[in-house]
Amino acid sequence: MLRCWSMFAVIDILTLSSLSYLAVLEVHVPELPVVALYGMDTTLNCSFSHASPFNLSDLSVFWQLTDTKRSVHSYWASQDQLTDQGERYANRTSLYPSQLGVGNASLLLRRVRVADEGSYTCFVRVEAYGSAALLLQVAGESVNLLPLFN
Ligand SMILES: *[C@@H]1O[C@H](CO)[C@@H](O)[C@H](O)[C@H]1NC(C)=O
Ligand SMILES: *[C@@H]1O[C@H](CO)[C@@H](O)[C@H](O)[C@H]1NC(C)=O
Ligand SMILES: *[C@@H]1O[C@H](CO)[C@@H](O)[C@H](O)[C@H]1NC(C)=O
Ligand SMILES: *[C@@H]1O[C@H](CO)[C@@H](O)[C@H](O)[C@H]1NC(C)=O
Repeated sequence: MLRCWSMFAVIDILTLSSLSYLAVLEVHVPELPVVALYGMDTTLNCSFSHASPFNLSDLSVFWQLTDTKRSVHSYWASQDQLTDQGERYANRTSLYPSQLGVGNASLLLRRVRVADEGSYTCFVRVEAYGSAALLLQVAGESVNLLPLFN
C-alpha cells in the first residue's frame, strides 16, 4: 500500500514538473474586434507577460491567419523571418523591435485592405509559449467619414 502511494507521488511530481516546464505564457490581445480604416495603418495589439528578464534571442513571435495558419509576420533569432510570409503582406508589416523586450509583440499593418479582414493569431514563445486570436474589421472607404461639403 505504502509503495503504491509513493509510486503515485513520484508520478505526481513528474507530471507537475513537466507541466511547469511547458507552462503556458500569458498572451493578451483585444477582446473586441480591432476596427481599422481602409487605406490606413493599424496596430494589432498583442502583449505577453514574462516574469523574469529574458534574452531577445530566446523570443519567437508568429503572427498567422487563424484559419489558414498562413504566415503574416514571423520573428526569431533576434530578427524578422519573412521568407514564408504571405505575399499579400509583403512590405506591409512590422513589429516594434524596441517593445519586444517589454512584452509587446504588437503588429503594425500598413495600408489596410478589405481583404485583410479576419482573425489573426499572435503566438509567442520564450521558453514557454502561448497564443491568442483577435478579429480585424476594416471600415469602408475613409472618404465616407469625411465631412461633406457641397
Ligand atoms: C493597444 O494598446 C494600447 C496600449 O495598451 C492601448 O492604448 C490601445 O487602446 C490598444 N488598441 C486597441 C485597438 O486595443
Ligand atoms: C506596443 O507598442 C506600440 C509602439 O510603441 C504601441 O503603439 C502599442 O500601443 C503597444 N501595444 C501594447 C499592447 O502595449
Ligand atoms: C543572449 O543569447 C545570445 C545567443 O545565445 C548570447 O550570445 C548572448 O550572450 C545572450 N545575452 C545575454 C545578455 O544573456
Ligand atoms: C517589397 O519591397 C521590395 C523592396 O523595396 C520590392 O522589391 C518588392 O517588389 C516589394 N513587394 C511588394 C509585394 O510590394
